[in-house]
Parts: sequence; C-alpha cells; structure tokens
Amino acid sequence: MKLKQYGLTIWFTGLSGAGKTSLNEVVERKLRSLGYQVEVLDSDIVRQNLCKGLGFSKADRDENIRRIGFVAHLLTRNNVIVLVSAISPYREVREEVRQRIENFVEVYVNSPLEICEERDVKGLYKKARNGDIKHFTGIDDPYEPPISPEIECRTDEESIAESTDKVLAKLAELGYL
Ligand code: ADX
Repeated sequence: MKLKQYGLTIWFTGLSGAGKTSLNEVVERKLRSLGYQVEVLDSDIVRQNLCKGLGFSKADRDENIRRIGFVAHLLTRNNVIVLVSAISPYREVREEVRQRIENFVEVYVNSPLEICEERDVKGLYKKARNGDIKHFTGIDDPYEPPISPEIECRTDEESIAESTDKVLAKLAELGYL
C-alpha cells in the first residue's frame, strides 16, 4: 500500500456496451498493481444492493447517481481511489456529483451507438428495438455526452490497453499518481 495517496473518484460514463466495466477493470488492476487502494462501484452491482429497486426513469437514474456519488464521496475523502461505472446519462446530476467530490475525473467512454448495438453484449439493444424494454438509453431515452471530460476514450478505435494508458497518463499529469 502507498504511504500517501490522494483520494479520487474516476467516473466512467457512456452508453451501455461502450466498455465502461471492461476499462474500469483493467484500470483497477493496474492501480492495484502499483500499490494503490482502490474501490469499484459498478452500477450493475450497485443496482443489486445500494440502489436496489430503482428503475430507469429520469428520477430513478438521478437517484442512482446521487447514491453512488454519496458513497464515492465518503471513500474519496478517506483517500481511496474510487472507480465508478454507470451510464449516468444526465449531465446535470453528473455535475452535481462532481461538485460534491473534491477530486473528480470524468472519463467519457465513447463508442458510437451502432457499435454498442452491434456488440449487444447483454442482448438488451435487441429487446429495446423490439419494444420489449422501454426507455433504453440511446434508443428511446437520452444520453447527454460530457462537454469537457478530463479523458475521452474511443473504445471503438483504441485498444483497452491504449485507453488504460491514457487514463493513467492523465491521472499522473493531474498529480494524482
Ligand atoms: S443509469 O442510467 O442509472 O446510470 P446504470 O448504469 O445504473 O444506468 O444501469 C445501466 C444498465 O442497466 C445497463 O448496462 C443495462 O444492463 C441495464 N438496463 C436495463 N434497462 C435499461 C434501460 N432502460 N436503459 C439503460 N440500461 C438499462
């Protein structure tokens, strides 16, 4: 463990299937191997406990993000590096969370909808297209991309190793590592 590390929240936002969780996992491994204390808040997991019962209306999504942001804030102020993965489609609540957390880095995990849909890892885009799932982000529900994220990873164009290096380089540049 590092003797001195800065608390920090790294917030991965992007469409379902853009690669948030995959990138998050590799960054987590890398940071751990360097001796940093890391915690992961992945929305797929968080929605089974902390955010259980929340749906996908705007109000519920905002509540999901606020709860994740609350925990990320507590951990960050205790010098943990927190890696959050959530679609977090609404800019306003992302900004609200950013304001609350002292050290905050936003990573826009950007892959065009066509590619996410083609991958369709969970088969949910197909269901959304068929109308079996309503209000699916990118199909019939909005995604508001970050205007000036600290980092943007084009996961359709760069390898996961390249994206990871980009994240790590930026963290170092910002003085967090
Ligand atoms: S968020 O909008 O509140 O940030 P979150 O990241 O927690 O979303 O959850 C997204 C995951 O829930 C998706 O990756 C997908 O597996 C699943 N999901 C189920 N229904 C929807 C929906 N209507 N829109 C987006 N994702 C959905």
